[in-house]
Amino acid sequence: MRKNIVAGNWKMNKNLQEGLDLVKDLQTALFNKKVKCDVIVCMPFVHLASVNGMIDKTKVKLGAQNCADKASGAYTGEVSAEMVASTGAKYVILGHSERRAYYGETNAILKEKVQLALANNLTPIFCIGEVLAERESGKQNAVVKKQIEEGLFDLSVEDFGKVVLAYEPVWAIGTGKTATSAQAQEMHAFIRQTLAAKYGQAAADATSILYGGSCNAGNAKELFTNPDVDGGLIGGASLKVDTFIPIVEAF
Ligand code: 13P
Repeated sequence: MRKNIVAGNWKMNKNLQEGLDLVKDLQTALFNKKVKCDVIVCMPFVHLASVNGMIDKTKVKLGAQNCADKASGAYTGEVSAEMVASTGAKYVILGHSERRAYYGETNAILKEKVQLALANNLTPIFCIGEVLAERESGKQNAVVKKQIEEGLFDLSVEDFGKVVLAYEPVWAIGTGKTATSAQAQEMHAFIRQTLAAKYGQAAADATSILYGGSCNAGNAKELFTNPDVDGGLIGGASLKVDTFIPIVEAF
């Protein structure tokens, strides 16, 4: 059956030393705790190799926040999926709304990234979600469906089985405004239905669908109790042990 996951997305925060300190503190906090979900931390590229060297993989798993849409070559400043994998990282966030909005990442580009990630044995955490105007005009389902269709639906059922999804309504990211538990469940159920129509119910049921957007210690439990919410992708609250661990413990 699908896994429960709590994944931190540090975004562009923490220098290398701060990142190492945070992972060390997380591991200390998790040491003797029996947690009921996988814990993943997704950090800047430059941290990955060092963190991989000190991480206890039975406690915390390592992820990047992006990879290139090309395999290798003259693409100055880019970091390939193969390079990410060579650090020991196992996950990569793809299609985060900040990448879509600020760096022009289209569904067509993301499709390439997903394929390269999978070819290098990285698990994509594929982000989808509507902006406020789209929700206010009732277009959220259509927007999310299109992102899924164009980003993922050329995958074989076998490859699709390796993907994690994260629904992040853009209006809830970093705003302190969370989707209500009912809004999250409604969208997650719609996403699962969309996956089932393409890949079959068994594949849809086996897919972890995370919620992201101002998820915190106060609302995590209610969100995660929903049958179609399989965990969270956590921004701000993943930057401190004291705010991240209670979310992990919400399961
Ligand atoms: P916040 O938890 O800071 O709202 O960010 C959510 C997010 O974008 C995680 O990817």
